Amino acid sequence: MCIAGATGWTGRALVQGALDAPDLTLRSAVSRSAAGRDLGEALGREPLDVPVHESVGDALDGVDVLIDFTSATVVKANTLAAIEAGVAVVIGTSGLTADDYADIDRAAHERSVGVVASGNFSLTAAMCQAGALLAARHLPHWEVIDYASAAKPDVPSGTARELAERLAEVRRPALGHPIEELHGPHEARGATIAGTQVHSMRVPSFVVSTEVVFGLPDERLTLRHDAGGTPEPYVAGTLLAVRRAPELVGLTRGLDRLLVDGG
Ligand SMILES: NC(=O)c1ccc[n+]([C@@H]2O[C@H](COP(=O)([O-])OP(=O)(O)OC[C@H]3O[C@@H](n4cnc5c(N)ncnc54)[C@H](OP(=O)(O)O)[C@@H]3O)[C@@H](O)[C@H]2O)c1
Repeated sequence: MCIAGATGWTGRALVQGALDAPDLTLRSAVSRSAAGRDLGEALGREPLDVPVHESVGDALDGVDVLIDFTSATVVKANTLAAIEAGVAVVIGTSGLTADDYADIDRAAHERSVGVVASGNFSLTAAMCQAGALLAARHLPHWEVIDYASAAKPDVPSGTARELAERLAEVRRPALGHPIEELHGPHEARGATIAGTQVHSMRVPSFVVSTEVVFGLPDERLTLRHDAGGTPEPYVAGTLLAVRRAPELVGLTRGLDRLLVDGG
């Protein structure tokens, strides 16, 4: 496998997870600042005999799966380059839209390549999403609240966006008073993502928390996932996707699909 973003906050934890997994081999990595170096040396540890490349296109020799935890500006190009080379992809990077995923799915089908993307690769977040999808079948009113640190550059979080877009596959939520007829700033009702109102809070002390609130007259169900301050929660789910992606064709969106539908 190749890890794009191997020197980043999540990427470093994935490198350790890959090295600890007896069934996986880390062949290459991508990072602009560490390009040309050995990954181990770039991470301040013993040499790993894993070359770091500047771009994904240069890093795919002998690779069967690309993991991408880079940035919203480059993830789509990375993914399409890997698909073109016949390499399966696991996308952790947030910021892709539903249209981007449609393009990726089309390309992946054309090349018979598997892509697994999840706005949140933690196992508990996947369970939260699976529970929300079940609830949406029975409870027509819901909204999503996305909490993250003040410095997070993208809105809404990948977790919240994916949740809203996956809920839309069940149905569109019922809305109370029409937004365009409200008195006051309409932005106060949040952004409409795939029919769901999503409210993004950005204040210090949060890492990423995602809440979906379902309401019925006189009762309420809240499903909430809280991530702590380390990247550990994302390692096991990402590596599970790495093991499964080569068997798949096209885009599989949501780690819960691998856990709930496919075991
Ligand atoms: N799905 C999930 O479960 C999950 C979990 C955590 C994070 N994320 C998402 O994953 C992404 C990465 O998060 P992070 O906190 O790990 O970021 P980070 O610490 O900023 O790391 C980004 C990594 O990507 C590399 N990179 C960035 N732009 C690049 C480019 N144009 N070409 C090649 N390499 C590039 C960086 O190295 P250089 O700067 O040296 O190039 C670095 O290694 C974000 O979108 C985040 O929201 C998703």
